Amino acid sequence: MCGIVGYIGKRSAQEVLLAGLERLEYRGYDSAGVAIHTETGLCVQKAKGRISVLQNVLGKSPLKGTIGIGHTRWATHGKPSDANAHPHTDNDCAISVVHNGIIENYMELKQQLIAQGATFSSETDTEVIAHLIASVYTGDLVAAVRNAVSHIRGAFALAVLAAQQPDQLVVVRMHSPLVIGIGHGEYVIASDIPAILPYTREVCVLEDGDVVVLSYDAMKLMDVQGSTIERAPLHIDWDVATAEKNGFEHFMLKEMHEQPNAYRETMRTRMHDGRIVLTELDAFVAVLPKIGRIHIVACGTAYHAGLIGQKLIERIAGIPVEVDVASEYRYREPIIDAHTWVIVVSQSGETADTLAALREAKRRGARVLAITNVVASSVAREADDVLLTMAGPEIAVASTKAYTTMVVVFQLLSLWLAQERKIVLRSECEDWWRALEQLPVHAQHVLQQAPKWHAIAQKISLHDHVFFIGRGLDYAVAQEGSLKLKEISYIHSEAYAAGELKHGTLALISEGVPVIALATQADVCEKMLSNIIEVQARGAYVIGIGAPQLRGIVDEYIDIPQTIDAFSSALSVIPLQFVAYYAACIRGNDVDKPRNLAKSVTVE
Ligand code: F6R
Repeated sequence: MCGIVGYIGKRSAQEVLLAGLERLEYRGYDSAGVAIHTETGLCVQKAKGRISVLQNVLGKSPLKGTIGIGHTRWATHGKPSDANAHPHTDNDCAISVVHNGIIENYMELKQQLIAQGATFSSETDTEVIAHLIASVYTGDLVAAVRNAVSHIRGAFALAVLAAQQPDQLVVVRMHSPLVIGIGHGEYVIASDIPAILPYTREVCVLEDGDVVVLSYDAMKLMDVQGSTIERAPLHIDWDVATAEKNGFEHFMLKEMHEQPNAYRETMRTRMHDGRIVLTELDAFVAVLPKIGRIHIVACGTAYHAGLIGQKLIERIAGIPVEVDVASEYRYREPIIDAHTWVIVVSQSGETADTLAALREAKRRGARVLAITNVVASSVAREADDVLLTMAGPEIAVASTKAYTTMVVVFQLLSLWLAQERKIVLRSECEDWWRALEQLPVHAQHVLQQAPKWHAIAQKISLHDHVFFIGRGLDYAVAQEGSLKLKEISYIHSEAYAAGELKHGTLALISEGVPVIALATQADVCEKMLSNIIEVQARGAYVIGIGAPQLRGIVDEYIDIPQTIDAFSSALSVIPLQFVAYYAACIRGNDVDKPRNLAKSVTVE
């Protein structure tokens, strides 16, 4: 996630770019920068921090010009810093580039470019693109860009300027979003529609492989081979607030819909040639043989992801795992020695209890891995190793895509541990591999069914108490479903290990009480069916998710695509997120900002 903008027209490029970046700040705010063709040449100005920092710098020494590009960064390769801020240039500042996405083969390209004499001034993958374009540039920017992108693997939306061609802006899209606003005598490009709406409502939405050359009076759309493409612009009716949510009514809804893509991003650079590649753990590999047990520590939804991590690591990699709520961990005098690996999980990376637990674990001599969504967060900075979830910024207080990408990271990590410890058969790995690859498509399929669950939420929203039951991994998902429902709909809910219900809670099940039952695990499916029949016998209204055997038994059945049991959680939780979301909407609650809650809990 990052935001890019570009402008060519009659207005001050600086003003248009800064206004556009402000509208895209939700896509990242680690640094910002612009490159503008001025009377004295192609000038770059960039600064670490929020867009306001760049605004101050440019306020003091403005860049005057009517063509430029800009960027707001969500750091992935390289910490937030002035040097890592975009735009990036080659050594002669002949080419200037802004980029949203990830270049998978950047290390390989970087070595080739260094061998040809390039020197790099940042840690980013993007700088490779500037040097690469410069190395093939002979006065025709679009030809050089087309040539360069044929060598690049990964996801990218690019906007490029050449010092020698002050009347041209070239953009490319491959797997990262990019739209072009078509105004009267001006074009505005951006990662997202809100940045364009103040200037025009006529928009060309780029597709993968599109290359566009923008000049002051024309726009030329072509493919990477240079063949012209004709595409009619779309007219956008949304107001700016709707556009920020990409047309969705709430950020939570938008973020739930972003999950398939977030899964892709989380896996993208980590699966190669039949192996899980976690380069982030290169230094840890030497320590791994000494690890005898793992502690996972987190809060709230991240804790629920940790519960899934526990089951996956124990089942797939055979290492014993304990999971703790961070606020309890520090005070229970955990037994930590040189054989303990501590994994802290935190979307924000700023949760006070999780940070305190991390410090306590380090004080006691543990090596700490952070699984987080925010690269420069406190947790990421203080941990020994970091695995990013790559969900992109999450705005809604109720976590959805950040949680599911944590689950995907645990899936990757458990397979990686098994692989490094050489305890899995190649044939088993192939099944897991296929299941991981299919996860984004399966998630998309689940999302398509979402409107059907509105009626279920309607019934649930009339009740004061809802119960969730499941066994094993499903019990962990049930706990997350229950938290999601209570935090945004304010309906009281509880999650129980299905076998535990009869030891007390069954007394609360009476006529019509909703029970959401998850049954995705074949080894305990029959037992789950018995538990469902038990609650039905007391009058419960049962919503069943998973095994086809539930159909015909439960009152409402939610189907999820067939995958291996170990990886079903990243799918089965999606209907629970939607039921919570719809119930909150039906009750008229502020879905994105539920009462009494904050996105980042920085107090203990
Ligand atoms: C619930 C939710 C919270 C967070 C918890 C930890 O939807 O988002 O329970 O999971 O406050 O936050 P992070 O992951 O930022 O440490």
